[in-house]
Formats: sequence, structure tokens, C-alpha cells
Amino acid sequence: MDFFHYQDNHLHAEQVAIRDIAENYGTPCYVYSRKTLERHYHAFTDAAQGHPHQVCYAVKANSNLAVLNVLARLGAGFDIVSQGELARVLKAGGDPAKIVFSGVAKTAQEIAFALKTGIKCFNVESAAELRRISEVASELELLAPISIRVNPDIDAKTHPYISTGLKENKFGIDIKEAFNVYQLACALPGIEVVGIDFHIGSQLTEVAPFIAALDKVLALVNTLESAGITLKHLDIGGGLGVPYDSEKPPHPSAYAAEVKARLADYQHLELIFEPGRAIAANAGILVTKVEYLKPTKDKHFAIVDAGMNDMLRPSLYQAWQQIIAVAPRQDDTPLHTYDVVGPVCETGDFIGKDRPLAIQPGDLLAQRGAGAYGFTMSSNYNSRPRIAEIMVDGDTCHLIRQRETLESLWQGEQVLP
Ligand code: LLP
Repeated sequence: MDFFHYQDNHLHAEQVAIRDIAENYGTPCYVYSRKTLERHYHAFTDAAQGHPHQVCYAVKANSNLAVLNVLARLGAGFDIVSQGELARVLKAGGDPAKIVFSGVAKTAQEIAFALKTGIKCFNVESAAELRRISEVASELELLAPISIRVNPDIDAKTHPYISTGLKENKFGIDIKEAFNVYQLACALPGIEVVGIDFHIGSQLTEVAPFIAALDKVLALVNTLESAGITLKHLDIGGGLGVPYDSEKPPHPSAYAAEVKARLADYQHLELIFEPGRAIAANAGILVTKVEYLKPTKDKHFAIVDAGMNDMLRPSLYQAWQQIIAVAPRQDDTPLHTYDVVGPVCETGDFIGKDRPLAIQPGDLLAQRGAGAYGFTMSSNYNSRPRIAEIMVDGDTCHLIRQRETLESLWQGEQVLP
């Protein structure tokens, strides 16, 4: 559930009319709802009650400082994948002791920075990475807390680009080899084994693949414990899907209930979640203006001011996100089936296809589900400044990232002398 709704035929974020935001800050822009972010975060913490737990929000979904800060104030931890994300979390007031560091390509510099920061855990993706962490930690005379990310070879039944738990994927360590890597970890200097983790993919709409992966991982936990390797936490990754269209993903409470049932005999293992999309996606919309209507012999195009550089998901994954009128017309404007396309010079530049809409140039549209993997995947392609981000809190709007200026487009560039 979210806090975007119609009031007097006008779309609102909490108590603020989207039309007013567009007037004040221009379009295109991202609009987030604080209350929705908080509600979704609490859905996880409430669901996890009864088992020691930590929710580590996946920063890649939406890394705006204000978003991170809202979650940090609630006690969230964070799942990061780069030094940049770590720096953002610290800047936003996040607690280093609640940060887990994922990602397949951690550099020595990133490892050193994270070690000095005092993060909770490195989620290790290969034996080579483990050796590098050991070297860096030994050099700094620090102890690196680690977890092995195991690849359980489970089909998450999601888009192939966002599936991560199959053995052909680059992520994690083959579950069959993980025991040996744990033994290596115990033998290496500068390493403290604290956990185990997996993440099998994103936008999962069923609990079964999570449980199948969990069962395999718990079997490994048992083997490790019989060999005297005891763990403090079990991190089950992110990946819980959201309803963009007619998907019916399980509520966090149903998902957590099944997980907790499996963990009844593992009270000593803190349960870590790394949700990104489930917290942020439906806490944000992309607001865009219709510039032109272009009827052709075959199609009706609605050309809008937001493009694939602002919102890449439809172009990259053929993702479907709802597009609605900010103020649905009540006049005799005809309803047509539109391809909603952007200004970028690519045929793949669309934010939605075959959408029934009654619109005129100048009308505002909102693309829903845009709070996760929206702004964070945006770029300056076609020399388009990245757009403003606004957070609504009750009846108040906060500009949480200003629209980039033209000058910012060439910041750091230099012509030859
Ligand atoms: N933990 C790890 C290790 C991850 O790789 C990810 C996402 C998450 C947690 C958070 O997953 P979530 O709860 O958001 O599903 N750009 C794609 C999604 C890529 C997800 C990558 N990893 C999209 O727009 O659909």
C-alpha cells in the first residue's frame, strides 16, 4: 500500500497535489512519499518480529541522501555495493555497524575504506576476494568480518537480467564449493567468519524459490556447525517483488513467516534482509509532461519530456509500469492507445507501450513504481541534465535533489590547451 491517491480528480502524494509539485519544480521529476517508505520498511521489521533480525535496505534501489536518512532514522541497516554507496550511507547518518558490503568486484581500496569504517560484514563472492580481504585486513592490522555469499543454483523465475542465483550467473560461490571456502576463511589471517548469505534475484513473486534456497543453505549451516564453524547471522538477500501490474507477490509478513518457521531451531542466527525494491518502488512516481501527440498511420505516440535516460527499466527489461493521468480528463478528449515515448534518439526510448489514455499536449502523466531503480539508473545520455527529486512528507514538499544545470553536464571536462 502507498500514499499516492486521487483527491478531487487530482493525483496527490500524501497531502500534496502533484500538479503543484510540477508547477513549482518543473517536469520531469521524481516524487517520493516519506510515509510510504516508512510503511514499507516497517512491513519488514514487523514481519521479522520474534526472531533476531536486521533489515539492510539495498542502497542501489534508491540512494538519495534523504531516502537513506529517513530509513536510517528508523534504525535501518544498509546493503551496499561500492565505496560510493558506503560514503552516501555515512553522509546520510547510517550506522556503519549495520552495513553489509555485497558485490563481485570489491577493490583493495574499497575494502580498506570499509574496514576502517567498521562495517558489519563483507559478503564475499569468490575465494580470490577472500584472499584480498585477508591481505588488506592484515596490512591494516584489522579483523574483517565476513560472510560467504553462496550461489544455491535456484531458479528465481524472474527476468534473466535480474536473476542471480543460478550457477551460470556471476554471483556467489557454488554451494558445493562453499564449505572449502569457509575452511580457507578460517585459516586466513585477518578474517573473522560471522555469517552466510545468498541473493537469488529480484522481483520474485513467489516464496518457493526463497525457501528452496534457504533449505539448501541451512543444510550447509549444519555441515559448517558440525565442523566447528559457527555463524552469527544468516542473510537471505533482497528480491521480494512488488505489484507493478497484476503480479501478486507475497506480503513481507507471509514471506517472513515461512522463513522464520524454517529458522525455529536457529535462534542464534540473526536474520538479515536486504530489500530494495519492496521498500522503494511504490514509494515513488515519475512525473512527466506530454509535449506532443503524434498520430501516424499505424500508431498514436504520446511524446513526453521524460526519456530512457531518466527511467531505463522499460527499455532495458521491457518492464511494465503503470502510467496514469495526474488529472484524468473529464471532457470529450478521445481515448487512444498510445506508445508513451521520450525525447531520446533511440527506438528503444519508451516508458510504456499500448496504454489507453485520453490526453492532450501539456497534460501531466505519472509513471508508478518508479521509486526503485529509477533515478539510480538514470544518466545524462543525449546531454540531458538529470532530473529533480522531491520528497513529500505530509503536506510539505522537500527538494531532495535539484535538477542538474547545463553547466553540470560538462563538470570536470576540459578542452585541449
Ligand atoms: N542484495 C543484493 C546482493 C542485490 O544484488 C540486490 C539487487 C538486492 C539485495 C536488492 O534486491 P531487490 O530487493 O531490490 O530486488 N535494476 C533492476 C534490479 C537489479 C537488482 C540487482 N540486485 C531493476 O530495475 O529491475
